[in-house]
Amino acid sequence: MEITYRPRRLRRTPALRAMVRENQLLPADFIYPLFVHEGAEVEPIGAMPGANRWSLDRLSAEVQRAWNLGIRCVVLFPKVAEGLKTEDGSESFNANGLIPRAIRQLKRDVPDMAIMTDVALDPYSCDGHDGIVSQEGIVLNDETIEQLCKQAVMQAEAGADLIGPSDMMDGRVGAIREALDDAGFEHVGIISYTAKYSSAYYGPFREALDSAPRATTEKVIPKNKDTYQMDPANAREAITEAQLDEQEGSDIMMVKPGLAYLDIICRLRDESELPIAAYNVSGEYSMVKAAAERGWIDERAVVLETLLSFKRAGADLILTYHACDAAEWLQTR
Ligand code: PBG
Repeated sequence: MEITYRPRRLRRTPALRAMVRENQLLPADFIYPLFVHEGAEVEPIGAMPGANRWSLDRLSAEVQRAWNLGIRCVVLFPKVAEGLKTEDGSESFNANGLIPRAIRQLKRDVPDMAIMTDVALDPYSCDGHDGIVSQEGIVLNDETIEQLCKQAVMQAEAGADLIGPSDMMDGRVGAIREALDDAGFEHVGIISYTAKYSSAYYGPFREALDSAPRATTEKVIPKNKDTYQMDPANAREAITEAQLDEQEGSDIMMVKPGLAYLDIICRLRDESELPIAAYNVSGEYSMVKAAAERGWIDERAVVLETLLSFKRAGADLILTYHACDAAEWLQTR
């Protein structure tokens, strides 16, 4: 047959394929999320096989392991004792709380690892919301931002390198930037959860932290986060959020969840020159684990293919619970 263009020519051998490969995964692309708790045990998380709630005395060794594999950033999430949860989430800015102690310890034990934090009230709120819930059941924007600013400054004081507001309140990036600057933390960056969708994929994470919305008082508590997290039906709105975050001083923008929102990563990549991060969230992780446990898919191949899809879509960074596994698999390819 007379066929002029034969794309298969460049797929013929591993060498030719390596030469024209457009995207690569590196361990330094990964941000490794870790759950911490006050307990003495390393506690497995039921809905996230392979992920744990780390005790502080075992945390440094795990972070050192990640460093040795080439990972350069971790993000910390606290499982807060029920007794410390309040309506205003004030434990979130306690300088002796779990997160600041974990940060100080890691800065001592693994000083070169970048530390990212999560800024939101949900792990500290008895209502399980990212903000303060009014008596009428409204998640209050501006009142919440005051708490978030205190939380961010406290985390910076403890030594955090990147502050990650995940709460989706309007105007929080600008307010946090100003609060950090006023406190002398001009050098501390903001990685904002720019396009964070109201997603069912966060289920296993909420189990890990026991942080799902719930009514513990007389107050009516919204059952979901639809009044602040984005509607999964919307894409243009993500551009608006990105423009606002950029104007307000975000250093890195994040799309979350990642896999079901690759189109959003792609659109933000076209729209902005800032680095973009994708959050390969808990539900995405657990689905792969469940299918792999049943022998239905090849975990290693599926994970590396999925992570590559984030880079192809335009992400520079990937938050993934598979970070250490993937870094190991990349070494033995
Ligand atoms: C809380 C927060 C959530 C996640 C990260 N920060 C859950 C939520 O918004 O309910 C989800 C992460 C994951 O599912 O892996 N502000």
